[in-house]
Amino acid sequence: MRNTLATQLIFDLSQPGRRGAVYPSSDVPDRPLDDLIPASRRAASAPALPELTEPEVIRHFVNLSTKNMSVDTHFYPLGSCTMKYNPKRHERLAGLQGIVDLHPYQSVEHSQGMLEILYTMQQMLAEIAGLPAVSLQPAAGAQGEFTALLTASAYFRDLGETRTRVLFPNSAHGTNPASAALAGFECVQLKSTAQGFIDLDELRAALDHRTAVFMVTNPNTLGMFERDIPQVAKMVHDAGGLVYIDGANMNAICGVTRPGDFGGDMMHYNVHKTFTGPHGAGGPGSGPIAVRDFLGDYLPGPIVVRNELPADGAKGAPVKFRYDLMMPSKSIGRVRSFFGNVGILVRGYCYLRTLGAAGVRGMSENAVLNANYLLAKLKDVLPVPQGDRCMHEFVASAKPIKDERGISAMDIAKRLLDYGFHAPTVYFPLVVPEAIMIEPTETESRETLDAFADAIRKILAEDPAYLHEAPHQTPVSRPDEVRAARTPVLKWEKAT
Ligand SMILES: Cc1ncc(COP(=O)(O)O)c(C=O)c1O
Repeated sequence: MRNTLATQLIFDLSQPGRRGAVYPSSDVPDRPLDDLIPASRRAASAPALPELTEPEVIRHFVNLSTKNMSVDTHFYPLGSCTMKYNPKRHERLAGLQGIVDLHPYQSVEHSQGMLEILYTMQQMLAEIAGLPAVSLQPAAGAQGEFTALLTASAYFRDLGETRTRVLFPNSAHGTNPASAALAGFECVQLKSTAQGFIDLDELRAALDHRTAVFMVTNPNTLGMFERDIPQVAKMVHDAGGLVYIDGANMNAICGVTRPGDFGGDMMHYNVHKTFTGPHGAGGPGSGPIAVRDFLGDYLPGPIVVRNELPADGAKGAPVKFRYDLMMPSKSIGRVRSFFGNVGILVRGYCYLRTLGAAGVRGMSENAVLNANYLLAKLKDVLPVPQGDRCMHEFVASAKPIKDERGISAMDIAKRLLDYGFHAPTVYFPLVVPEAIMIEPTETESRETLDAFADAIRKILAEDPAYLHEAPHQTPVSRPDEVRAARTPVLKWEKAT
């Protein structure tokens, strides 16, 4: 049971004179305050701080921390966001003193260990992508998209070509057009087929000398693999454009197929999703990009390189080398300070080294298996318009249930909180009415998936009027989500 007394506002819990510590009287002679801080520099009154005992403070904050749902406390099938469990071992490794105490301004000589981690990370990401040149700089998937588009701009400028348009299907994540617009391109949205795939006729009609980049998420945002992608890539290349693979859904295909092999020229990773950086509510992220070799010169830097040192003469002596930093010759410059979001990159590095090549493939296979298991358990009550099979996630639709009984995707999502499950993503992608996007990830057991499916079945049998008011057991039920996001009230002010 949550301690509801402890989760009142800390200011309301305050009682005059309560203290967390009692100090011995000072044996240092008093000095007038005016001698130490002139009155002109002092506040007119003491700050209105709450006054509580230590146990009250501890209970307050510990109980507050349990009001949130998290991957560590709940199943979190937030489609597109890949909320998989973050192994605690990686937290410990990323917290080693040699890592956290390192300052980015330390010399290259004194940073060889960290540079080796970053170099190896570049190599692993290049291998998984099938694209040889990697920049670790971008600090989120969206920034990766933006950075790759600036890289493409620089490339076309160098070729002397004026290409002004970025194309993407209407199932694209909102960050794709946002990145394209921010990078100075005109956005062209293409209709998808009824099955939710890239419509080749639409694409053919849109491609011309103005096309700079075609952006596509693969597997797409409906959780389906775009099988025509080699043909799509050929069409884009024939028009002189580049193919950008939004790698947010890499969790489904790592070690199975590679963006570089199916026609992509550029991609980003979301290290925080695919490779277990703990994240939520927008960060902390890491969105490295991988590109074809002919784009490598334009990447933001610094890139970590491994330079072999001259052999010391003795036959059979081990090759010596050191890691250095290099700015690509035509670099677009930096997009973030120093080397990217190193804390998350180190966790991703630990994850990849722990799993190894076979383990990484197993991760994707199990993510796909879990999603298909859940799809099979739910599709008779929650129809999945775009497919009987999926990759690592699927998009169900509450439209028939809403038409029949008035139960919306939002009602189901909100009521799931009462059952102890984080809500799936709802109302994205926009091409599915009343969308409920479920991504279980590979880290969940069959029992958890069964319990979630049971909860959905129970919810669908409940009184719609009761569901419209859900959740019933959370501290806040249905806030105005737009106001909560746009004008949050983040500070307490004493009532006057
Ligand atoms: C398909 C897709 N692309 C891009 C992004 C943006 O990634 P980030 O949140 O790391 O900026 C997301 C995030 O959810 C996504 O799902």
